[in-house]
Amino acid sequence: VPEQALDRDCTTLSRHVLQQTVKTRNAPSLLSPEAQDISAIMNRIALAGKLIARRLSRAGLMAGVLGFTGEVNVQGESVKKMDVYANDVFISVFKQSGLVCRLASEEMDKPYYIPENCPIGRYTLLYDPIDGSSNVDINLNVGSIFSIRQQEGEDLDGEAADLLQDGHKQIAAGYILYGPSTVLVYSVGDGVHSFILDPSLGEFILAEEHIKIPEHGPVYSVNEGNFWQWEESLRDYTRYVHRHEGYTARYSGALVGDIHRILLQGGVFLYPGMLNKPEGKLRLLYESAPLAFLIEQAGGKASTGMNRLLDVVPDKLHYRTPLIIGSPKDVQLVESFIQDHA
Ligand code: AHG
Ligand code: MN
Ligand code: MN
Ligand code: MN
Repeated sequence: VPEQALDRDCTTLSRHVLQQTVKTRNAPSLLSPEAQDISAIMNRIALAGKLIARRLSRAGLMAGVLGFTGEVNVQGESVKKMDVYANDVFISVFKQSGLVCRLASEEMDKPYYIPENCPIGRYTLLYDPIDGSSNVDINLNVGSIFSIRQQEGEDLDGEAADLLQDGHKQIAAGYILYGPSTVLVYSVGDGVHSFILDPSLGEFILAEEHIKIPEHGPVYSVNEGNFWQWEESLRDYTRYVHRHEGYTARYSGALVGDIHRILLQGGVFLYPGMLNKPEGKLRLLYESAPLAFLIEQAGGKASTGMNRLLDVVPDKLHYRTPLIIGSPKDVQLVESFIQDHA
């Protein structure tokens, strides 16, 4: 019986996005160009997700999928073959789509331009093709993070200066989590919605609408191996957690998975600044800002410790900032430790 019920009402991602865009962008109808564009972009992102999920699910069976390429990316990290594959998948699904004129990712020094789309495609896709790369070779969860912004101006010099704006400029954001199932979570500014890939249909099917993050939760998710390089305020917060009942540590090495847990069950994820690296590790435009957009849409908070994360204006494409994100009460507690020391 439950299976039939599901089959009858199943809402696919594309239908959902169309309805959502009409609601949030005040588009007059399902046929309005903006609703059509965003929905088409989301369909392409979903296709990229399916291609990446398929490759990951067979990675250990095929030669040339796992391991490093030998290259170092613009972040100074050793690149994995899956980073390159996933980066290229997003490019290829958007080439000839007429939808986006630029893509910017963790794995590319500069944005990738699709000049033939430029007269019509007014959007830019920012993405982290594989989040949690260190999990790839051991068959643990990884993700992809995406954010859509409108292109402003012509970008004739190829500097993409219009991308250096705050996170409120995002039109849509979300992630795909490649776990036991593949889950896509997105928002266009009217709540957060999750979809599960049904591999037999090849469709993302609605799982939960208007997800609300708990006010407070038990999880704290942070790489405590960095304790020695933290400011005293963060050490104090960690000591507080260690001395109080009700906290549990969870840290997977992939932000997307850790935040997905916190979205559903509550708690806080932290990647703070470090003494020798005050900006921390995570990149604003395609990691922190899209997740902040989502978590705020679910009723949570995202902060640098001092400021609301969505207010941060980057001064370069690969700009990094500390991130404290999750249940509102738990983020506030971390902020209070940081601000007391400031
Ligand atoms: P990426 O794999 O896209 O480079 O991102 C890795 C990020 C994030 O997913 C994770 O939470 C964090 O880096 C892990 O970093 P540490 O190993 O320094 O804890
Ligand atoms: Mn990386
Ligand atoms: Mn990442
Ligand atoms: Mn990555």
